[in-house]
Amino acid sequence: MTQPPHRVAITTEIKNRTGIDAAMIERLVHGFYDRVRIDGLLGPVFEARIEDWDSHLQKMCVFWSSVTLLTGDYHGQPMVKHVFLPIDARYFDRWLALFEETARDVCPEPAAEYFLERAQRIASSFELGIAGRNNVLLSRGERYVNKELDSQLDS
Ligand code: HEM
Repeated sequence: MTQPPHRVAITTEIKNRTGIDAAMIERLVHGFYDRVRIDGLLGPVFEARIEDWDSHLQKMCVFWSSVTLLTGDYHGQPMVKHVFLPIDARYFDRWLALFEETARDVCPEPAAEYFLERAQRIASSFELGIAGRNNVLLSRGERYVNKELDSQLDS
């Protein structure tokens, strides 16, 4: 990771303020996907698409380092990977609930808040993108519910 000098200063400030570092990100990512994989609703969505969990987890650590510590190491296009998934607001609520549960377990309070704020923002933008892809234009604060997924929701 080679960051421009001005970014090194910002990263240092975030690390000092929140306590976030590579080891914490790894604990959060691994702990979160341990929960996701056994979740009745989310587990099957991931298991049907992820062949190599080690590389997914590694990618997610790089992603969260970029998002929280501004490492600039993640170069993917996450929206493209999500717009075609069979998910709606209810899946995002479960995703966020598991993420929050894990963050509160493995992070000190300021770090948990920092992760959660960003996860919520990114989740909303994915939900908006998925709705748009399904020809639904959400107004501010409106959630995307896809009735076709109702049968999965008993899980
Ligand atoms: C219901 C919620 C979600 C589900 C079911 C879901 C599912 C998935 C799946 C199946 C993949 C693998 C896609 C593939 O490789 O073809 C993936 C990748 C990924 N997800 Fe999610 N996701 C959800 C929410 C989120 C949220 C809220 C974030 C960010 C805060 C996120 C970040 C990512 C990233 C960064 C990748 C890797 C994309 C890449 O290959 O570069 N996901 N997700």
